This record gives sequence, C-alpha cells and structure tokens, in this order.
Amino acid sequence: MHADQPDVVVGARRNSPLVIGLGEGENFLGSDVAAFVEYTRHAMEIGQDQLVTIRPDSVEVVDFAGQPVTPTTFEVDWDASAAEKGGWSSFMAKEISEEPEAVAKTIIGRVHDGLVDLPEVTALGPEVLSSIDRVLIIACGTAAYAGLVGKYAIEQWSRIPVDVELAHEFRYREPVLSPNTLVVSISQSGETMDTLMAVKYAREKGARTLSICNTQGATIPRESDAVVYTHAGPEVAVASTKAFVAQITAIYLLGLQLGQVRGTLSPERARGLVAELQAVPDKLSDVLAVGERIKELAHWMADTRSVLFLGRHVGYPVALEGALKLKELAYIHAEGFAAGELKHGPIALIEPGQVVFVIVPSPRDPNSLHAKVVSNIQEIRARGARVIAIAEEGDVAVLPHADEVIRIPLASPFFEPLLAVVPLHIFGMELAAAKGLDVDQPRNLAKSVTVE
Ligand code: M6R
Repeated sequence: MHADQPDVVVGARRNSPLVIGLGEGENFLGSDVAAFVEYTRHAMEIGQDQLVTIRPDSVEVVDFAGQPVTPTTFEVDWDASAAEKGGWSSFMAKEISEEPEAVAKTIIGRVHDGLVDLPEVTALGPEVLSSIDRVLIIACGTAAYAGLVGKYAIEQWSRIPVDVELAHEFRYREPVLSPNTLVVSISQSGETMDTLMAVKYAREKGARTLSICNTQGATIPRESDAVVYTHAGPEVAVASTKAFVAQITAIYLLGLQLGQVRGTLSPERARGLVAELQAVPDKLSDVLAVGERIKELAHWMADTRSVLFLGRHVGYPVALEGALKLKELAYIHAEGFAAGELKHGPIALIEPGQVVFVIVPSPRDPNSLHAKVVSNIQEIRARGARVIAIAEEGDVAVLPHADEVIRIPLASPFFEPLLAVVPLHIFGMELAAAKGLDVDQPRNLAKSVTVE
C-alpha cells in the first residue's frame, strides 16, 4: 500500500498462499478464503509468481513480466456465518460442536444406492483405481493421524498396502514411487508447505496424487491430480478438531470406493459399512453430551504436568491426537502410545498419580483386543496410574479397573475413532481453559504452516 494511493492494494504471490475475495464495491486479499468469507463468498485464485492490484471496484492480475493473466474464479460453499464465533466462548468450542455436521456434510452427495460414489476419484481414470498397487498418505500433525486411521481401513477394505508418512520426512529420503503409487495428501488448510512440497515431489516422480482438503482454491488441491474436499466448513481455531473427523470420513469414503471397485468388498458388506458411516453424525451428537463431565475432570486436573494416552489399532492414532491436543493447547507433557508397546518401555513412566487415558476397543471386537487393553489397564493401575477409560456403552469389564469411564455409543471398530476422539478434543480445550490459556491461539503456533 502507499499513503498517496489509499484505494490501492498490491499483492504478489510466490511460495505462499494468496487468494482474492470479490465483493461489491470492495475486494479482499487473504491467505485463504476463511479470512473474507464473512464478507463475500465469491473468490479468485492467484497463481504462483503473479501480481494482483485491487481497488474497491477492480481487480487486475499480471504475471511477473507484467503480462495480463485471466484467473479462475469460484464460489466458496461456506456459510457467511461459519467463520464467526456466534455465541460460543471460543472458535474451538464451536468447532467441536460442529463435528457431527462435518462428518455428515462430507458424506452428503457421495453415496448412491447405498454405495460410495466419488466422481473426483473416478476422474483419475477408471484404470487407475484398479491398477494402483500402493497407497502412500502424506500429511502433518493431526492430518497425519487421520491418515493413520485411514491406513487401517483402506488396507482392510481394499487389500492395498498403505504407508503413512509425515510430509516433511518424505521427500528428503528419495522415496520409491511409481505410476501405480497413489499418493494421498491430507490437509485442512491445503497450504501446509511441507505437504505441498511432498505432493509436488511425488508428482514429479510420476506418482498419481489425490488431495483430501478442506479449503477451496487452496494450493495443494491445485497441485494434485484430483481432490476430495472435506466439508467441515472453516476451521479457525489453531487446534484442528472438526477437520480431523471430516478427514477420516473422506479417507473412509476413498477406502470404500477402492474396495468396491476392486471387488474386495462385496456390495452387501460395502452397504453395511456405508450405513455405519452415515450413522456416525447422530452418535457424535450423543458424545457431545459428555462435555460437562470432561470439563469437571479438566478442572480437577489443571495442575497435572503429564498425561499419557493409550490405544490400539485405530485407537492408536486417537491416542496420538489426544496427546497432541494437550501439548499444543495446555502446554503440558503428553504422549500417545500403542498400548501393546507399554511393556517395551513406556510402562516405566507409570508412577502413582500418573494420569492415563485409555481408548478401549469394543468387547465385541473380533480381534479380542478388548481383553488385551483391559489387561494393560490392570498393569498400569497396579503401578498407581489414574485411569480414565473411553469405552463403549455397556462395557462393564472395564469398570472395576478404571477410575473414570467416559462412554461412547456402540460402533464397530472402524467407527470408534470418530467417536472416541471427541472427549479428547473437549479435554484438551477444557484443560487449557482451566489454566487460563487462549484456546484458539496457542503460543508459537500458526493455523497454516506455510514455511518449511
Ligand atoms: O492444514 P493442515 O491440515 O495441513 O495442518 C496440518 C497441521 O499443521 C495441523 O493439523 C496441526 O498439527 C494442528 N495444529 C493440530 O491441532
């Protein structure tokens, strides 16, 4: 901006996000559409190495050589009110309350005749879905934990081997990629630099790239061969919550589609799984009712210095997610472990009073993991741990061994993470609030990490 031209703002884009909001008699520059969706839902993409000049009634885009370019415009499908706090105490509280809706909206329009129909994925080419021999999921932070949940499901349903890798580790080790590798990136913002660079690298090396993203017009989907949008709406709080459940939903839809196309899921089995996924939003609404009890627990634990989280199978990434929320929001030491790993080291951390959250698999689980996790609880309790179990309704076996039991509705194993994570999101938020911390903007963190 220049003092002599108060009606003109000039922006340039190189390696950082920039998007234009097109209003009536006003225009906006923002790093993503959430910045201006309150004022306009009409947006314009700006490409790499382009310059934009906005005035109240005009927008001009040129490349760095000064040549005019014709940018793409699009409509943001978020409600104008979605990026406002409304009556909530924080954006995070509001966004947790929107977890059921985030799952429901991510499913809507993608199920026909009881089966998954993702045209975005089919657009990769019908032969691609049947010829890929490996899926590689790349992401960071919470999005990577959603990817880890997805690994269990995609392998189970499609029998394709799946690896999950932190995006910043991926491209510095000369990964083995082929045209039959499907690289799936997951990102709420679509602007995480580590993930973006990993996608570009994978594409250069000939892999197919599919992005799971929550933000329209973001860079990662534009750099990918295909995109499946999550429909969680704008996520403003730095700690990711509703995007996590939407990401799991999207990756489950992908896993189901792969299973359907490759014949590893019978139509009957696929329909059963789709119906279970569709039942998740109502169950999530029930889980939100535990909020008050968790708030009490968090206030009781405001001085706690360390919390451990244990889970198995798809409960393991949930444990990692619970720990990350406590680190970033409440600034306390927290670790998530695969419960089976306890005896290989972490059990040495257990001393009287150590708080341990345990995500307990269903007693109806066909792999009998329930009994193993209950046995883990007995081991840590015998050493003085204070155990808070997240267990399904009617699981009485856990009662004699836990200090607190937080109930979640019945669901088959793959759908438990979507339910079990909500109490942990609430706990992270309430513990931070009990410590008087800023829940929406934790120290040292940014919502979109646009630097490597
Ligand atoms: O926008 P992205 O999903 O790519 O962001 C990835 C991580 O930076 C993000 O999930 C981060 O870990 C959150 N603060 C976790 O709550």
